[in-house]
Amino acid sequence: MEELRRLFDGLSLSQLSPGEVFLMQLPQDREAVLQTVREGKPIFLRHLQPVDASRTLSLDADDLDWLGDWLRLCRGKLAGMRVGVHVRKADGSPYPYSAADTRALLDAVLAEAGAEPAHKQPDRLVSIYATKDTLYAGIGTPEEMLSDWPGGAVRFQKEDGQISRAKFKLLEAEREFGLDYANFKHALDIGAAPGGWTSLLLERGLKVTAVDPAELHPSLRAYRTLTVLRKNASEVKFDPDSFDLLVCDMSWSPMQMCRLVQDLTPALQSGGTAIVTVKLMHRKPLQTIREVMSRFSEQFEILGARQLFHNREEMTLYMKKK
Ligand SMILES: C[S@@+](CC[C@H](N)C(=O)[O-])C[C@H]1O[C@@H](n2cnc3c(N)ncnc32)[C@H](O)[C@@H]1O
Repeated sequence: MEELRRLFDGLSLSQLSPGEVFLMQLPQDREAVLQTVREGKPIFLRHLQPVDASRTLSLDADDLDWLGDWLRLCRGKLAGMRVGVHVRKADGSPYPYSAADTRALLDAVLAEAGAEPAHKQPDRLVSIYATKDTLYAGIGTPEEMLSDWPGGAVRFQKEDGQISRAKFKLLEAEREFGLDYANFKHALDIGAAPGGWTSLLLERGLKVTAVDPAELHPSLRAYRTLTVLRKNASEVKFDPDSFDLLVCDMSWSPMQMCRLVQDLTPALQSGGTAIVTVKLMHRKPLQTIREVMSRFSEQFEILGARQLFHNREEMTLYMKKK
């Protein structure tokens, strides 16, 4: 909320789902709001649904009829396009229809209107959100909505034998920052145990040096491309330019993490990439982030800073070594 207040003048915010979803009312027009978001690159704003229409829930078939009529009125904007439909309900919303039933109705309206209902790579998204008393509906591009996942909730399939849920953070960072880990050769993973991040990088064909006093999962021993150093990050040393990727997911105070990563940065080649999780354990997360980014900017160009869906009390930095 603080980030949004700093970003927008004259913002009025009301909470639709505690700590998760807010209704923003702004004096600026839609294009000005989108421009502010593009330029301000907010860290915590994961999804933005325009409210083009809203209605008090009637809790009967009129709700569906209204959604269908609204979408028919929008058909001029959607004809010939691939259109995805996202339907979400706030916890406790009495909206009586399932997401699947609502989507089926809206997909039929889209097909009538000459649009192609599409789950993947849509040109436009129709986004519906039901609260305890209101239906909100809006249309935008995935870029405007900041995500092509409903509510920005990126989901990955859990694999058999997956070592940790932390792996999802590195997968999401790859998607969010437009990376392909397979393009790197040798990664340093600081704070690697139990080994979710290491396993992903090994699967992508990288050599990995994993540093952690704790033990890595035994399944990783099969990789001859893995070097494990069961040490504190402050005790290890590497030749300069040994790595082209540095990743760090230490649950550690942000400033200490920053110092440890900075001490190991000479081992990263110039132009090398770093993906770092920053723990936000203090009450002033924006201040912590500013301090960490200011320190890292001595050695790195900061290309991305986001609280990913799979981050909890933390955020992720994507950086390139100068
Ligand atoms: C959240 S876990 C990392 C999870 C890992 N990314 C994964 O995917 O499985 C944090 C790890 O950081 C390690 N750690 C904390 N402080 C460290 C330090 N100073 N040096 C090395 N590792 C450290 C902890 O031992 C712990 O295993």
